[in-house]
Amino acid sequence: MNAPSSGLQKFLADQEKKSLLRFLTCGSVDDGKSTLIGRLLYDSKLLFEDTLSALEKDSRKFGTAGEDIDFALLVDGLEAEREQGITIDVAYRFFATDKRKFIVADTPGHEQYTRNMATGASNSDLAVILIDARKGVLIQTRRHAYIASLLGIRHIVLAVNKIDLVEYSQKIFDDIVADFALFARDLSFASQMAIPLSARHGDNVISKSSSTPWYSGPALLDHLETVDVDSALANGPFRLPVQWVNRPDLDFRGFAGTVASGRVKPGDAIAVAKSGRISRVTRIVTMDGDLPEAMAGDAVTLTLADEVDVSRGDVLCDVHKRPEVSDQFAAHLLWMAEEELLPARQYLLKLATTTVPVTVSALKHKVDVNTLGHLAGKTLALNEVGYCNFSLSQPLAFDPYRDNRDMGGFILIDRFTNSTVGAGMIDFGLRRATNVHWQALDVNKTMRGTMKGQKPAILWFTGLSGSGKSTIANLVEKALAAEGRHTYLLDGDNVRHGLNRDLGFTDADRVENIRRVGETAKLFLDAGLIVLVSFISPFRSERRMARELVGADEFVEIFVDTPLEVCMQRDPKGLYEKALSGGIKNFTGIDSPYEPPELAELTIRTVEAPAEIQAEAILRHLRDKDYI
Ligand code: ADX
Repeated sequence: MNAPSSGLQKFLADQEKKSLLRFLTCGSVDDGKSTLIGRLLYDSKLLFEDTLSALEKDSRKFGTAGEDIDFALLVDGLEAEREQGITIDVAYRFFATDKRKFIVADTPGHEQYTRNMATGASNSDLAVILIDARKGVLIQTRRHAYIASLLGIRHIVLAVNKIDLVEYSQKIFDDIVADFALFARDLSFASQMAIPLSARHGDNVISKSSSTPWYSGPALLDHLETVDVDSALANGPFRLPVQWVNRPDLDFRGFAGTVASGRVKPGDAIAVAKSGRISRVTRIVTMDGDLPEAMAGDAVTLTLADEVDVSRGDVLCDVHKRPEVSDQFAAHLLWMAEEELLPARQYLLKLATTTVPVTVSALKHKVDVNTLGHLAGKTLALNEVGYCNFSLSQPLAFDPYRDNRDMGGFILIDRFTNSTVGAGMIDFGLRRATNVHWQALDVNKTMRGTMKGQKPAILWFTGLSGSGKSTIANLVEKALAAEGRHTYLLDGDNVRHGLNRDLGFTDADRVENIRRVGETAKLFLDAGLIVLVSFISPFRSERRMARELVGADEFVEIFVDTPLEVCMQRDPKGLYEKALSGGIKNFTGIDSPYEPPELAELTIRTVEAPAEIQAEAILRHLRDKDYI
């Protein structure tokens, strides 16, 4: 993705007084999208000279347009892409006319690039959806319109291209428009403009074409220059997600951030969304001096009349119209990673200036992005959209995405790779959380542990099937019991007979298996027990999640490290043989992965000594660390 360069910023600064339209173009390679953008830039004489001469040279080299300049080359960026004849990733371009300045996000049209389209759409005001007049509304046209709508774009231009190739037929144009209108009915666009055009010949791009006398609307550029997309943001309720607390000395304490919606003036009462504390704005500080008023889009620092507790991630808001505050909500989620979404897995959610751990508590349905139909599903694959309930580890202040993209849009981040794996759009908060409060009980973990004369802990055994986890855990438990310790052993095979009877061995089911076992172990820990957990627990993410459910000194991870070949030889339950002959699917070590621990407190190599010796080593560790 190309970030706006500093040259651009200067360019934009020079043009400050003009309004800015951010738009997105979508369509497939063959629809002529790149040609259209090239035509817009070329015909409005907005190209720099050096770009032009490079273009003329390249057109001759790659020439797909005869003697003409191939406009697609202008936009298609990288050489590799040119040679393949496709556009990947998102390219941003900038141009300006007398009336307006523009940022165009150009995204590829193929289904596998839906995530790129989402990237381009997330800050666009308008989408130009290209249609090849010869082909009409295709499945991908619908997908683009749906994703644009999902991502909060309220204005659509239906660019019916290659109208020259259908003899400038009004009938064909009208049919396409009617077809699209039927589909787009439910997508709540604020404006839809259909324009017949030929990007190749320039009809209705910059100026009206004499070949379409039946068309009474504007040319594309005309429409882009005049369409009113001024969002209602400045008139919405005041929101300022706090980016950082500016405290250069004891006399000054300011809260810096970009106003996400509404306006604010010195003297206005504001509330801190999560705590509910109320204060008054005293100053609006900026680099260029104090302001009498700030509104949506302004980056400012506010000072308050009272010493209220505000930190990064808090939201300063309108006292009367506050955002929702909840640790559960329902949202659409577009999955953007190669690795599928595993609902019970913990991810990081980043919304405005806050980052918190989150899990998908329910995948209600998947959306068929081509038909808008609902599909059942347990996971989401790359480019799939699902409607999910989310559960956060702490309450968050937010607004529905349809009201405010900054306060209702979020990304999900993988905790291990740090990459963005999903984009979410909040629909509404789920109240449940506010009605169910944690009950502080008088008899607590410490007291229960003391009564049993022990320090409660979780001993988490992980390793391949047949590695010896259960054998060793069993020996450790016997020794603890012989000393009068109070214990409980949670074993994979046993728990799968009861509590987790409904789960199989897909990645998603294993994640849920470990989530439930982690929570159960936590309850037993709270009961004051030494809990032994013996599960393959193949994924680092979920072991980490279990670890983070309890205190740092309450979790002992024990890696029972037995080479796969040894487990296969032992094959105590004959399962490896079945897995190898195809009788069992998703068998760990065969056709399902095992991620060895990186942070285990103890590693046990069962090939080096018998189980009794290994159990002794574990007990010694517990004594050394004062667990027993
Ligand atoms: S985990 O991966 O979700 O942690 P868990 O420890 O509960 O697995 O269950 C593993 C036990 O289930 C194995 O010891 C084995 O007896 C049995 N099993 C049956 N099918 C499989 C499979 N496909 N993969 C691994 N274990 C399986």
